[in-house]
Amino acid sequence: MSRKVTKAIFPVAGLGTRFLPATKSIPKEIMTLVDRPLIQYAIDEARAAGIEEFIFVTSRGKGALEDYFDHAHELESTLKRGGKTDLLDILRGTNMDSGAIAYVRQHKAMGLGHAVWCARRLVPDNESVAVILTDDVIMGEPPCLQQMIEAHAETGGTMVATMEVPLEKTKSYGVLDVAEDMGAIVKARGLVEKPKENPPSNLAVIGRYILAPTVLQNLNKLREGAGGEIQLTDAIADEITEGREVFGLRFRGQRYDCGSKAGFLQATVAFGLERDELREEFLDYLNEIVSMQRAAE
Ligand code: UTP
Repeated sequence: MSRKVTKAIFPVAGLGTRFLPATKSIPKEIMTLVDRPLIQYAIDEARAAGIEEFIFVTSRGKGALEDYFDHAHELESTLKRGGKTDLLDILRGTNMDSGAIAYVRQHKAMGLGHAVWCARRLVPDNESVAVILTDDVIMGEPPCLQQMIEAHAETGGTMVATMEVPLEKTKSYGVLDVAEDMGAIVKARGLVEKPKENPPSNLAVIGRYILAPTVLQNLNKLREGAGGEIQLTDAIADEITEGREVFGLRFRGQRYDCGSKAGFLQATVAFGLERDELREEFLDYLNEIVSMQRAAE
């Protein structure tokens, strides 16, 4: 089996309830950090890692997301006529090749594992596939998925991105039970979704995965897990039970949980400060507002 990974699944069928009322009419993935929607950060990361086929698992009400990937011919010619080449380049940078994107529908939000399972017919059964959760925006160089694909070329098996979190926060994540710690890469002996108590480690799984084909087969069981949802973590844990290897990569970079309001705001600040054209003015403003807060305390 080749270890080359050229396909990625983007599960974007969640309800996004933490961002209501915005998500009543806007898909969460279209919400913007500075001037780019979350989905664009995910696509750029996937492209940088050599992904050529993009599979979106969508749901009702996600039309704006599908439209986002259409070429905007009218806009392009207006910018061209106006000589706005910088904007034209930005716009063209978002264009996707015809046939590179596929959409499948998840009819009911039954969990991340179920969403990934919905894409099963688009992934040949001898190919590993990447999964990217657009909620997790990662600032890193090289980008996180590229780090994973490079590590996976060495290890094979299934790989998850992992990061250390305070023990009291492990209950919000899938958590690795570590069999062997090799530094950047750890080998897992188990994986527990949202442990209520006794987390096996402080290594949390975040939203980047490279799945061996057998993980999609494990999902065929459609077994309900934590929270009554069909969990991807459980299908990955089955790999270990069945004697196949699962690794975690301590990626280099900063992850922002843009599925939560606090994380989204933090990411807005971090990505705003990354921009040359905004940094100075934005930093002055932040300093000013922090001093005012301090003075008021
Ligand atoms: P979340 O757990 O963040 O759920 O899903 P959510 O519905 O998006 O948001 P909240 O919690 O209601 O605010 C993590 C990722 O898995 C996808 C989501 O779109 C998100 O990218 N997902 C989740 C699905 O595609 N289908 C599901 O049934 C569940």
